[in-house]
Amino acid sequence: MRILILGGGGREHALYRRISASPRAEKTFVWPGNGLIPAVDRVDKPAVAHDFAELAEFITRERIAMTVVGNETPLVNGVRDFLKNRFSGHLVFGPDREGAQLEGSKAFSDAFMAEAGIPHGTSVVATNLTAALSALAAQELPFVIKADGLAAGKGVSIHHDLPSARTKLSEIFEGKIFGDSGTQVLLQKFLKGTEASLFALCNGSDALLLPVARDYKRALTGDEGENTGGMGAYCPGDNLTAAQKDFVRTKIIAPVLDKFRYRGLLYVGLMIASDRPDDLAVVEFNCRFGDPETQSILPLIEGDLLEYLMWTDDGEQKFPLLASGACKLVPYRRGSVVNVVIAAKGYPGQFSKDIPLVFPVSRHKDVHVTGAGLGERNGKLFSTSGRIANVVAYGADRHTARKAAYEYLSAFAAENQAVADKLYWRDDIALASH
Ligand code: GLY
Repeated sequence: MRILILGGGGREHALYRRISASPRAEKTFVWPGNGLIPAVDRVDKPAVAHDFAELAEFITRERIAMTVVGNETPLVNGVRDFLKNRFSGHLVFGPDREGAQLEGSKAFSDAFMAEAGIPHGTSVVATNLTAALSALAAQELPFVIKADGLAAGKGVSIHHDLPSARTKLSEIFEGKIFGDSGTQVLLQKFLKGTEASLFALCNGSDALLLPVARDYKRALTGDEGENTGGMGAYCPGDNLTAAQKDFVRTKIIAPVLDKFRYRGLLYVGLMIASDRPDDLAVVEFNCRFGDPETQSILPLIEGDLLEYLMWTDDGEQKFPLLASGACKLVPYRRGSVVNVVIAAKGYPGQFSKDIPLVFPVSRHKDVHVTGAGLGERNGKLFSTSGRIANVVAYGADRHTARKAAYEYLSAFAAENQAVADKLYWRDDIALASH
């Protein structure tokens, strides 16, 4: 089978590692990929977003049988609908345009959760600055402000005082910092607890859960600094009980399957308040694998990941064991995976690009690096965006995995001393205190 993965971050690199190793995969392309993916498998073109004509040509020319959509933008813009219409029998991993609105519009998602009785941080939606400021006056501290549309993980901010919340709202409505994604905002109830990222592979009527991951969204050690796309992750997380997973399956994922006949990956971002089965709430839905969580989850998955992805779009039910509902949890091996993101100093604000980088060969067989915002020219690597690469380490337990990841980072720091002032990473990924 010839496969195309859309996207180029650490998540797509993690997908590439598993998919290209599948006995079913004859050839695996990544469009655009990144500098640590072999050049022969990269499609050297700008990322696919709105215009799918060139994508269709590539699929025809390269006889691609399956497209795995890694990132949200093409999904929200209807890439599944386009490909299913255009190519008979072509498999697509990812939901249709309607299902993808669960991520594409926070207001849409909030309305759906309210209608379906899914516990979530209830919100007020405002479509202009005056309405937002008056809604703010009725909220309790801290204030949670969410841009409605896609904002590359930067659309949510938490404010512990009124002036900063007011400033943020005027930046969104008057400064247009999120462009069209900020034409409406949600003022959301602040949720207390610990976060968990629970991913479900969905085939329109059934779901398979992946092991829980924990993501570190704040930029700096100690959970300081701004929200980012994620600065590190570990898997499995241990803050969700078996009864809570059942609750999520029956009361949160099942309504999504019913309403949208949802296919692909459903990302359920949860806030867990206590051990009680229903004492949790949805923070967000996303329509694709999480980044950096995926880099921590996939190395633990047993079996052929490509088959699980195919199952989500398998109209002919070629995988009866999974489709029968006999297997509700994707099998995964013992141990733990820790992923630490190497970022450009200043991310998620202003940062330099084109930082030349060298990745030493790992002395540890259970450590690997996936590229993210990383380009390659004549064999030389350089940064292209804020999150540059992921150091991913497996260990018998979280402590061992963490130690291996940070040992690699020490070696990386020694090799890259000349650009040390342009880079950073968190020191506390996978510490027990998170
Ligand atoms: N790590 C958060 C996300 O993928 O949205």
